[in-house]
Formats: sequence, C-alpha cells, structure tokens
Amino acid sequence: MNFIKMIEEKAISLNKKIVLPETEDDRVIKAASEILKRKLAKIILIGNPETIHAKASGLGVSIDGAEIINPVTSEYYDEFVTVYQKKREKKGMTIDQAKEIMANDYMFFGAMLVEKKVAHGMVGGALNTTAHTLRAMIQCVGTKPGTKSISSFFIMISPNKEIGYKGITFFADCAVIPLPDANQLADIAEATADNFKAFVGETPMVAMLSFSTKGSAETEETKKVAQAVDILQARRPDIMVDGELQLDAAIVAEVGNKKAPGSKVAGRANVLVFPNLEAGNIGYKLVQRFGNAEALGPILQGANRPVNDLSRGCSVEDIVNVVSITSVQV
Ligand code: ACO
Repeated sequence: MNFIKMIEEKAISLNKKIVLPETEDDRVIKAASEILKRKLAKIILIGNPETIHAKASGLGVSIDGAEIINPVTSEYYDEFVTVYQKKREKKGMTIDQAKEIMANDYMFFGAMLVEKKVAHGMVGGALNTTAHTLRAMIQCVGTKPGTKSISSFFIMISPNKEIGYKGITFFADCAVIPLPDANQLADIAEATADNFKAFVGETPMVAMLSFSTKGSAETEETKKVAQAVDILQARRPDIMVDGELQLDAAIVAEVGNKKAPGSKVAGRANVLVFPNLEAGNIGYKLVQRFGNAEALGPILQGANRPVNDLSRGCSVEDIVNVVSITSVQV
C-alpha cells in the first residue's frame, strides 16, 4: 500500500475534527467536500454560513455535514478575545486589538478553536503565508511541554527504495527556523525522530548533517552540529543519533563505514537534520526536482496541538492529504 493511502486509512479510523479557516478559497471548499465524502475527518469551516453555502453551490459541491462557525456571532468569540489578549498582554495587546484579530483573522480564530479543544487541528496557508500560519500557531496554540521550538519536517518518498526506510526519509527543518542554535537543532531532531516512529512505525536513525564528518573540518557551524548531538544524546538516550555527518556518509553504507567507522547511524540514516533553513529548504527541493522524490509537507511539529501549513500553490488533493496527515498527528 502506498504511504498516503496508509495515512488516509489511519485518518478515517481516527475521525478527528479539523478546521479549514480559508473559506474564501475555492480549493478549500472543494477539499472540504472531498474530505467529508471520503470520511477522512470532520470539518469546521470559518465564515458566514450563507456565503459559504452559496460558494459551495456555485462550485457544484456538497459540504453537508461541515460545521460552520462565524467568529463574531459564535458562542466562542468573547472567550477567545479574552484568552488571546491575556496570552499577548506582555507584548502590549489591547482588548480592542484582540477583538479585531478574532473577528477578522480566521487563521487566528481557527488556531484558538484548536487551542480551546473545539477542534483537534487546523490546516491553513492556501491563501496566507507560512509566516502568518506559524504566527497564529505560535501565539494561540504554543509549544508542547518540554520543547521550545516549533519546526517542520518533510516526508520524502524516493524512487530509490534503498535510501532511508524503503525509500522513505524525513528531512528537517526545511520551513521554519532560519538559524537554529544547538538546542533548537536538538529539538528539531527529537521531534522529527518521534514523528518518524509515529508515521512510519520503524526505528528512527538520525543524521545531523554538515559539510564535515566527525571533525574532518572544524568551524563554528560544525561544532554547533556536534554539540546538538551531545544535547540530544543526553536528553534522549533512546534515540539513535550521530553527527556531524556529511550527506553521503549518512546514507551510503560504504562511505559511512569509511568516514564514520563504528557509527550505528552512518550509512543507514532515515531522518536527516539540516544545519539551517537555507540548507534544508534548498536540499529538499533538490531531491524533489532532480531526484524525482515525492515531498509531503512541510508538516509542522513541536506545537501542543497540530496546525499545518499549505503552499499557496496547493491543489485540492494537497489540502485533502494535509488534513489526513494532521488527523494522524493528533
Ligand atoms: N518556535 C517557537 N516559538 C517561536 C518560533 C519557533 N520556531 N519562532 C518564533 N517564536 C516565538 C518567539 O519566541 C517570540 O515569542 P514571544 O512573542 O512570546 O516573545 C515570537 O514567536 C515572535 O518571535 P520573532 O522572532 O519576532 O518571530 P517572528 O514572528 O518574526 O517569526 C517565524 C517567526 C514566522 C516562524 C519566522 O521565523 C519565519 O518567518 N520563518 C520562516 C518561514 C518561511 O518563510 N519558511 C519558508 C517557506 S516554507 C517552504 O518553502 C516549504
């Protein structure tokens, strides 16, 4: 069975409630209809019910079964204004500003629905930038106890089944933290390893990537990566992690044996952690475009409850897939 089919089956059995806030977008309405038809999740749409129903009829799709919440007339509005203002008080947020945001910014209202457990998760970003989705998540939902970092991973599915686990490798962080320090790199590695176990069901083997293998070069950057390995090993001795490793030493057995003899991870890595966002973002796109790998993501991690980001160029099927992934993350 292919990977996305497996995720869909899990999503159907979990039947979680997911918010789609960007109801101005035709793709979101079509995706909601498809999700309901395939019973992948329960759906909350945000906006004016009449406008949303008119849009669905215009598109010739049914959204029967979707819950529609209009922020200003909803039972949640006053509570969300108070809670959100309190969360941002230290940053100077006033009640009037909180009212304005909760009434008009559906990404923030949607994130509050997740925070207050009205919904299990949210998928946005068809219309809004990644940074806007992240801010809604960071400000309303926040991080899981035990981590300070919201980051992301991509599920890369390669036609070369010898790489990673049967062609599946997780890449992180390719979308969120521009210049992670050693602690943030350890957070990224820990969260991605746990997600690899949760999604793939196999033991994660984490390579912390660099342009150096085990001290072959020594710069501030290589030392940061090696320090992240030490932090993670001390915090989570159950996770198999090694670094700093070059990409070939991480995934090619012969190179790994030569450059990092005795390493349990070198040559067998299935989770690749990049030293910064530039390397990660360029790296996943190289593998996708030159290597014909399928890239599922970015899937956000580290938040207390799941919120996921779409590309603004996403298709209806992409939205459907990210909703299934979000349900499984719950
Ligand atoms: N995890 C947890 N908290 C965070 C994170 C994070 N990754 N980043 C920022 N914060 C917190 C800060 O601690 C701060 O908290 P406070 O207000 O309580 O003090 C607050 O968020 C604001 O911090 P800033 O440093 O001002 O962060 P800003 O809001 O400017 O930006 C953002 C944060 C949006 C995550 C930024 O780092 C960003 O834009 N990242 C890149 C996103 C992007 O464009 N990715 C590439 C495209 S995706 C693709 O190609 C697939």
